[in-house]
Amino acid sequence: MSHSSTLFLFLIVLFFTPALSELCNPQDKEALLQIKKEFGNPTTLSSWLPTSDCCNNNWVGVSCANKTQSYRVNHLDLNDLNLPKPYPIPPSVGNLPYLNFLSITNTNNLVGTIPPTITKLTMLRELQIRFTNVSGEIPHFLSQIKTLESIIFHYNNFSGNLPPWLPSLPNLYRVSLDGNRISGTIPDSFGSFSDSLKLMTFSDNRLTGEIPATLAKLDFDFVDLSQNMLEGDASVLFGSEKHTLQINLANNSFAFDFGKVRVSKTLLILYLSHNRLYGALPEGLTSLKNLGTFDVSYNELCGKIPRGGRLQKIDVSSYSHNKCLCGSPLPKCKHL
Ligand SMILES: *[C@@H]1O[C@H](CO)[C@@H](O)[C@H](O)[C@H]1NC(C)=O
Ligand SMILES: *[C@@H]1O[C@H](CO)[C@@H](O)[C@H](O)[C@H]1NC(C)=O
Ligand SMILES: *[C@@H]1O[C@H](CO)[C@@H](O)[C@H](O)[C@H]1NC(C)=O
Ligand SMILES: *[C@@H]1O[C@H](CO)[C@@H](O)[C@H](O)[C@H]1NC(C)=O
Repeated sequence: MSHSSTLFLFLIVLFFTPALSELCNPQDKEALLQIKKEFGNPTTLSSWLPTSDCCNNNWVGVSCANKTQSYRVNHLDLNDLNLPKPYPIPPSVGNLPYLNFLSITNTNNLVGTIPPTITKLTMLRELQIRFTNVSGEIPHFLSQIKTLESIIFHYNNFSGNLPPWLPSLPNLYRVSLDGNRISGTIPDSFGSFSDSLKLMTFSDNRLTGEIPATLAKLDFDFVDLSQNMLEGDASVLFGSEKHTLQINLANNSFAFDFGKVRVSKTLLILYLSHNRLYGALPEGLTSLKNLGTFDVSYNELCGKIPRGGRLQKIDVSSYSHNKCLCGSPLPKCKHL
């Protein structure tokens, strides 16, 4: 071989090597570029270029699996997209079959409903849509994605009822639908959530009615139903045998005898303010060693604040505006 043809071959190899060594799967790249197009080519996605490798950390929000999993795109985390005009969630997200994490956050021109193509993501574990204007009911077709472990839909424009099919997702660990316009009652079916469900937060919606008795057997780490229009008895959420860390029921119309409640010893945070709780404070509160936040203000509680635990260290404002609570840290009881 002549020197010049060797050089020629060398140059060819040099020229094609970057393309050959690209890790990004061609189908994934095509899907991502289509997603960019369906978002109206926002400048925030200018790093998504046909000429670069989507798996070398240069494509904002895109991560790929390792070699064992053929470097397929498995993580799409899009924030502050700054869309030039209103667009729906691109249907092409369904063309990234290895995705296990999909998040779209802080994108005010994101409108419309969740596209049905999302059910093609059969490995999806975490779905987050937060601080957008995505609307409509939480679609029933999400129940087809059996791998889902976490649904976080904070502060969007979702409406309709709480989806009664949620317990059919066997691996669900967290469901957070705070800050939407979801109305109606909590479905009885929620009593059949699997043990995997540890976080349930529905604050700042338009929920009404009573908490179904079926929920008594659930053992959450964290439950937040604050800022709704719920009423009646919420004592099923408590229980001395549970492992609950945080309960927030503030700003509802719950009415039950708090004195009869048995609290779990693990409680760290308990917000019950702005309800119609009556009775006394349960003695069990004194055995909560790690109680950090406790607020029962604006209820109809009465009687002596039990002595012990952290109850005397809690700010007086957390006991204020009740019927007749008394004793440290409030003033002495007069006629008790
Ligand atoms: C590749 O990723 C999978 C899933 O995350 C993991 O189980 C495996 O250990 C990883 N392999 C290597 C070589 O890092
Ligand atoms: C939703 O749209 C309204 C009206 O256009 C706008 O004021 C609001 O900021 C948007 N919300 C979010 C979370 O983007
Ligand atoms: C919120 O959803 C309602 C319908 O449910 C719709 O009329 C309204 O335009 C939506 N708001 C925005 C800002 O998208
Ligand atoms: C209850 O509502 C008030 C007024 O809207 C708000 O300031 C407060 O943060 C709410 N408390 C909780 C614990 O949600």
